[in-house]
Amino acid sequence: MNRFDLFPTTLWMGMLDIDVSIVLESIDDGIICDDLFKEIKDNIPKSEVMDVPETHIHYWINFNRTGDFNRRHHHTDITTLFSGVYYLKVPSDSGRIIFHDPRSRTIDAMMDTKYCGYEPEVSIDPQPGMIVYFPSWLEHEVEKNESDEERISIAFNITSVDELDRYKDMENFYDNNAIATRPDGRTEFFIS
Ligand SMILES: [Fe+2]
Repeated sequence: MNRFDLFPTTLWMGMLDIDVSIVLESIDDGIICDDLFKEIKDNIPKSEVMDVPETHIHYWINFNRTGDFNRRHHHTDITTLFSGVYYLKVPSDSGRIIFHDPRSRTIDAMMDTKYCGYEPEVSIDPQPGMIVYFPSWLEHEVEKNESDEERISIAFNITSVDELDRYKDMENFYDNNAIATRPDGRTEFFIS
């Protein structure tokens, strides 16, 4: 008997060819170096059915201090090609990113999934220099930062420039960027 796993969720991971320390320095200077955005655009996953469009990157910086975490959320937006995150500083125990199976609420309790063994979530241990591109609709969260140091990443949505006006008009444009929930439950926003 052959087993077929239908409808996989695809994401892409790899390392960007850019010096992380240079990007960190540019954050301190207040202007993130253009080389990073060029790298992010150059590495956009290729499609077999469409050319990569000219893109705009809307980004925000996550500074997760000790005890901070990111609640489960998604970036769903019909104008977004991919969402993603690039890691700059990831002390040990500063929190994995966890992706949730979008079907989990439907199939969690089903007998076949119990029988076959089913993991409703997948955790990824990031490292500095790593980038992940994922579908904007894929729910994710970041564990609590248990280290004494800050965890820094740059999250982004990639939008075709043709869709940019529509992207900015989306009602949830700002809600999407609620990040870094502090230990006291306060959530800070970084918009750029
Ligand atoms: Fe996110």
